[in-house]
Amino acid sequence: GIPNFVKIVEVGPRDGLQNEKNIVPTDVKVELIHRLVSSGLPVVEATSFVSPKWVPQLADARDVMEAVHGLEGSRLPVLTPNLKGFEAAVAAGAKEVAVFASASESFSKSNINCSIKESLARYRAVTHAAKELSIPVRGYVSCVIGCPEEGSISPSKVAYVAKELHDMGCFEISLGDTIGVGTPGTVVAMLEAVMAVVPVEKLAIHFHDTYGQSLPNILVSLQMGISVVDSSVAGLGGCPIC
Ligand code: HMG
Ligand code: MG
Repeated sequence: GIPNFVKIVEVGPRDGLQNEKNIVPTDVKVELIHRLVSSGLPVVEATSFVSPKWVPQLADARDVMEAVHGLEGSRLPVLTPNLKGFEAAVAAGAKEVAVFASASESFSKSNINCSIKESLARYRAVTHAAKELSIPVRGYVSCVIGCPEEGSISPSKVAYVAKELHDMGCFEISLGDTIGVGTPGTVVAMLEAVMAVVPVEKLAIHFHDTYGQSLPNILVSLQMGISVVDSSVAGLGGCPIC
């Protein structure tokens, strides 16, 4: 049946604003995070400690985090692609981080400039450092249904990457349909494969509404027992590199 309680993980300030053509001023980002926190959301993903050459939209990560890290009421995780990002995040006051792998080899290369295997090695270093500081780490898998370059992605690849992230200590694994090509049929097959290797309580879903399928995809996911759903305020965002 459908879970009694669904946790919403709001990713707009990060996943939304990283895709805006215009760079949003830091004080506007900070105000957005304040408003999202005061709306009662349990988790608001605040920014990413990534390379400013790759994502200039979030080059002010340190300033944003320093301005919001003391806010109470919501957890405020940030994306960290490597140890360098992790250390900068912690120095700016982050108390929770997220690492992001891909089920598509091509997308891994174009998004984080390394193979899936190399990314998992980097993330083992991050989860290890985080454990020393008791910092929880969320894991993302991108391209869980399709990839802009490779087309369909097999559920077994998603299951493999999700299990690796779970085994290295990620407390939650968010399954991202990065380009929004999922339908209830492909989503059910993907979730069956992942749920065979990672407990359903550890899974979250992250849909993009590119073709208007996110609500039916969320519904079938809830029906399969998923109880964590990523959201993006005002539907901000999309595929980072499409
Ligand atoms: P690289 O160029 O291979 O990195 O980028 P490198 O290790 O060779 O270093 C090159 C330069 O970057 C060096 O500086 C480093 O210091 C610097 P230089 O010596 O040339 O001046 N550097 C950094 N600077 C700041 N913060 C860092 C950092 N690391 C290295 N953390 C890297 C590799 C991973 C850094 C880069 O590719 C990157 O930042 N990628 C992030 C891309 C991104 O944020 N994409 C969007 C998020 S994923 C997503 O949206 C999907 C998701 O929403 C789920 C879904 O929808 O499916 C999560
Ligand atoms: Mg996304």
